[in-house]
Amino acid sequence: MKTIAIANQKGGVGKTTVARNLAFFGIELGLRVLCIDLDPQRNFSKTLRALRERNLGDQGDNEPALMASSLFEGDSIESLPLACGEGAALVAADRELVDVASLSLEHLHAPRAALSKLASNFDLCIIDTAPTLGNPLYAALIAADFVVCPCTMDQDAIDGLEDLFGDIARVQQLEWNADLVTLGLLANRVNTRRAFDRNALEQLRDELGDVVLDGVLYDRAATQYAKDRPVWRVQSGESQILAAREMKAVCTQIFDKAALKGMKP
Ligand SMILES: Nc1ncnc2c1ncn2[C@@H]1O[C@H](COP(=O)(O)OP(=O)(O)OP(=O)(O)O)[C@@H](O)[C@H]1O
Ligand SMILES: [Mg+2]
Repeated sequence: MKTIAIANQKGGVGKTTVARNLAFFGIELGLRVLCIDLDPQRNFSKTLRALRERNLGDQGDNEPALMASSLFEGDSIESLPLACGEGAALVAADRELVDVASLSLEHLHAPRAALSKLASNFDLCIIDTAPTLGNPLYAALIAADFVVCPCTMDQDAIDGLEDLFGDIARVQQLEWNADLVTLGLLANRVNTRRAFDRNALEQLRDELGDVVLDGVLYDRAATQYAKDRPVWRVQSGESQILAAREMKAVCTQIFDKAALKGMKP
């Protein structure tokens, strides 16, 4: 199982949007995808619950499924992720996740141990994270093989990248997870009609070079509306075709970099 964390402490930059489209991209390739929602806002969980309802109907919530805060118990976890059909499963966010912020450092390695216990049942794991620095983000970065950082062309978001890359470097250098690979910075919600966006993207490419993914996600209504499905499966006119093409290109690039293409169960 390869694990990709989607991270940026700035809110609203597209973490969940990227997480859900990557997850669907993997599912459609026939991979068994484990979706982990580490954000108490539960947006990613909602997407996967909708998939479960489409695939399996309303099953009630009787099954005691593994919840995200329980990942912090490490390899002593007992319940399984919630099956969503098509080989996908969800470790849903719960309110107790809020307490992760006050855990000691040693507990932040527990999700990695928990995921390694589940690894034989999945090919790909996508972790959506909350808009925060510190413990919850560290836990995701320690558990992941790869990290993708979506960022909007917003000055506050761009200014925050230094802290984000600082945290990623800390995780690598302190050997909490020395093998963590930054797959890249993903420019999101770019509006080419705005000079600010064009200049900001150019400056990011100058300063960060290859760290910035070639693929860019533009500001598209279709991307905004696709919450329960991948953007290439919604019907909403002309912007949808472009949005779908751009999103698939980005997913392809990320999968190529993580060597996930051609990997079938
Ligand atoms: N490329 C895009 N074009 C249009 N709308 C977008 C695009 N990317 C994201 N959005 C919209 O922007 C909003 C924020 O995106 P999203 O929820 O993915 O961000 P986030 O980083 O997960 O936010 P949070 O930090 O609150 O978890 C959502 O309404 C989403 O649909
Ligand atoms: Mg989110």
